Amino acid sequence: MAEGKLAGRVALVTGASRGIGRAIAARCAREGAAVAVNYITGPEPVQGKDNRADAEALVAEIRGAGGRATAVEADVSNGEQVQRVVSRVAEELGTVDVLVNNAGIETIIPFMEMTEEQYQRVLDVNLKGEWLCAQVVVRQLVAEHKPGAIVNIASIQSGMALPGRSHYAPSKRGVEALTRNLAAELAPHNIRVNCINPGLIATDMTDWVMKDEQILPIILDKIPLHRAGEPDEIAKVAVFLASDDASYVTGQCIYVDGGWVVT
Ligand SMILES: NC(=O)c1ccc[n+]([C@@H]2O[C@H](COP(=O)([O-])OP(=O)(O)OC[C@H]3O[C@@H](n4cnc5c(N)ncnc54)[C@H](O)[C@@H]3O)[C@@H](O)[C@H]2O)c1
Repeated sequence: MAEGKLAGRVALVTGASRGIGRAIAARCAREGAAVAVNYITGPEPVQGKDNRADAEALVAEIRGAGGRATAVEADVSNGEQVQRVVSRVAEELGTVDVLVNNAGIETIIPFMEMTEEQYQRVLDVNLKGEWLCAQVVVRQLVAEHKPGAIVNIASIQSGMALPGRSHYAPSKRGVEALTRNLAAELAPHNIRVNCINPGLIATDMTDWVMKDEQILPIILDKIPLHRAGEPDEIAKVAVFLASDDASYVTGQCIYVDGGWVVT
């Protein structure tokens, strides 16, 4: 029997081939969970990435360390694919009782130039995707009378006005509202729902910021801890929220941002 804060749990982490999702999946495994590493192979903003190979490499790493893991392909905005993945994970690893809704995309497009399709895609992945994954997982948990924990990844941008994010910011604000709504509705089923709002975290999504010698110092000046965060600094909070250490915590949105939101 595995040991750790998530021993005996089955965690599905969406968008886990790289970045924050990868760090969360790796830490869930280290804490004893069997982990489903979700990835997508379709088009998305970061080009030149082999998400399938990256997801399978993480699965091999987890298994090599004695853990249980499987890589599962799905676009989180597609209900049929999400249903198929959750059923497959149940067969291979067991019923998903920890869901980390991490998959997300960000593009930067001036409001007046943004097309309806560009707006819709970001809402579909960032907000509808979290709703869909939660619904499929929760239906199974409730049918089996099992408790569970959901951790949604929002963003500091849910309450911040950065130009070019008239799709991304509302999608993340929506994730906060979804979190509170589901927390209240699912509490009778002993399913907790919380949310993390990351600040600037060094990943592919923010690579351009980290490399921009003009913009980076301006942003760092706004962050009291005066640095970008690492993906594992989000993963540690995600594991806390998913574990029994947070047994009386539900409906919360926790900013993990080096203090940026208070400035
Ligand atoms: N990096 C930051 O500074 C930051 C800040 C705030 C919030 N976030 C949020 O954290 C989450 C992870 O972002 P990241 O920084 O690791 O970015 P990333 O681009 O490195 O990773 C995003 C992951 O989501 C996957 N993905 C994208 N669309 C998908 C879909 N339709 N179905 C399944 N998977 C999909 C990608 O393949 C990738 O693995 C996102 O929700 C993002 O909005 C990031």
